[in-house]
Amino acid sequence: MLVFHSVKDLQAHLMSLKHDHQIALVPTMGALHSGHVSLIQRAIADNHLVVVSIFVNPLQFAPTEDLAQYPRNFAADCQLCEVWGVNCVFAPSEAELYPNQEVFRVVPPKSLTSVLCGKFRPGHFEGVATIVTKLFNIVQPNRAYFGQKDAQQLAIIRHLVRDLNIPVELVSCPIIRESSGLARSSRNQYLSPENRELAVCLSRGLLAAKKAFLLGEVLSEKLISLVRNELINIKIEYIELVDPDTLQSLTMIKNAGLLAIAARIGATRLIDNIMLEKRQGIIAIDGPAGAGKSTVTRKVAEALGLLYLDTGAMYRAITWLILQKRVSLDDQNALFELVNTVNLELISNNTEIQVIINGEDVTKAIRTPEVTALVSIVSAQKIVREKMVQLQQEWGEKGGIIAEGRDLCTKVFPDAELKLFLTASVEERARRRLKDFQNQGVTNISFEQLKQDIQNRDDQDSNRKISPLRKAEDAMEIITDGLTIEEVTNKIINLYQQINNC
Ligand code: PAJ
Repeated sequence: MLVFHSVKDLQAHLMSLKHDHQIALVPTMGALHSGHVSLIQRAIADNHLVVVSIFVNPLQFAPTEDLAQYPRNFAADCQLCEVWGVNCVFAPSEAELYPNQEVFRVVPPKSLTSVLCGKFRPGHFEGVATIVTKLFNIVQPNRAYFGQKDAQQLAIIRHLVRDLNIPVELVSCPIIRESSGLARSSRNQYLSPENRELAVCLSRGLLAAKKAFLLGEVLSEKLISLVRNELINIKIEYIELVDPDTLQSLTMIKNAGLLAIAARIGATRLIDNIMLEKRQGIIAIDGPAGAGKSTVTRKVAEALGLLYLDTGAMYRAITWLILQKRVSLDDQNALFELVNTVNLELISNNTEIQVIINGEDVTKAIRTPEVTALVSIVSAQKIVREKMVQLQQEWGEKGGIIAEGRDLCTKVFPDAELKLFLTASVEERARRRLKDFQNQGVTNISFEQLKQDIQNRDDQDSNRKISPLRKAEDAMEIITDGLTIEEVTNKIINLYQQINNC
């Protein structure tokens, strides 16, 4: 691990690595604890090179605040970084980053700083936005990691990156807590054992509100009073329910709300928060080829506003990248590297799914004959399948997804709210296929031949080694013989609405 104190030295080191390394930045003020470590671990997993900055930024402390007392433990911090595999620590002095008395500052919009902590810490987020912009410019990372613990900071940095077109991908990491529920913080070390016990009421209050929210309570006033009931013997600065992006106060939660607290226990100021989100369910559909799964899936997605998780497009996108990078399927190391550094996004555009891989829109490119010819071989690669399943499950955590394909009900989303096995008799599927061919002007195909082909495909699919076709025990079977696409679509919409009570 290398330790840099000067901007010039760090930049010289990164310069030679930039072109073929994904660089991550984890900005911190030191006194590292397991909250910071969670960011470091995530950064190491996703990138080639991780820079951790350690700098207690005077610009974000008001004259009355604890700048002088802020815990500093550089030797232990370096040891921790070394143990976790950090490549570079950047620990500049104040003179290195602010050589002049007067400096330019990055000023966030008032709407973001006049709420929550901003109300009690004037100038704080200006100091944060300024140092973070400087660090982005110095390191020029591909990705930067921030904790949800400082939710207002994260929201402001998101706006900063968007508004100033800073080319960095932000990764937000969940709050790490002690077993008592207390959110980890460098400032926890100021707490006496009694006050540490008292401090647990912050997370207890937030959890009480979350429970009520999950049982249907959406009113801000009610949720806040549930938190307040738990905050005994401490000095509350604020309890607010706000929109997680705009940070504007909410009277009720429609989709998502950020419930946040700041309080003083003795001289120590603590913050905590929880995200209250209505999670839409998942619909997973499996079934034999030709039963109309993909058409119906698209229509249901459109009607219910769910994201159509087009797993086929995901495999096609990886295939496109393999062709683009000329990676041989025999080179398992190269394949592993490619698959595990990929950034794949599916964006719902009404009826169309936009496919973005490593920042490039490949929606059209993945439909070429070259990709079509290779996709089934790529899909059979264990490394690829495992990564795709992991990505699908990560998307699934947010809910609001509909997906169709092999393994979806049994392996990818075994806990999906609605699991369906969409099927039709061989005759029905042959009839539909024949109609499709006739509509395309193809007339030299017989019904009997199609029936035979479909039967063969079913047998193959049911007996293959990897992911054979089988109905999940608890999946609901829908036989679509004699039903129109609209009828099947409506049936699924009704089932989903019954489950979601909407
Ligand atoms: P600091 O308080 O050291 O935090 C550094 C990063 O660690 C922040 O992104 C913070 O949200 C995250 N973090 C702290 N405690 C956490 C926890 N319990 N769980 C998850 N993440 C946690 O935040 C700052 O420093 C500064 O404002 C900085 C961004 C470095 C700018 O000076």
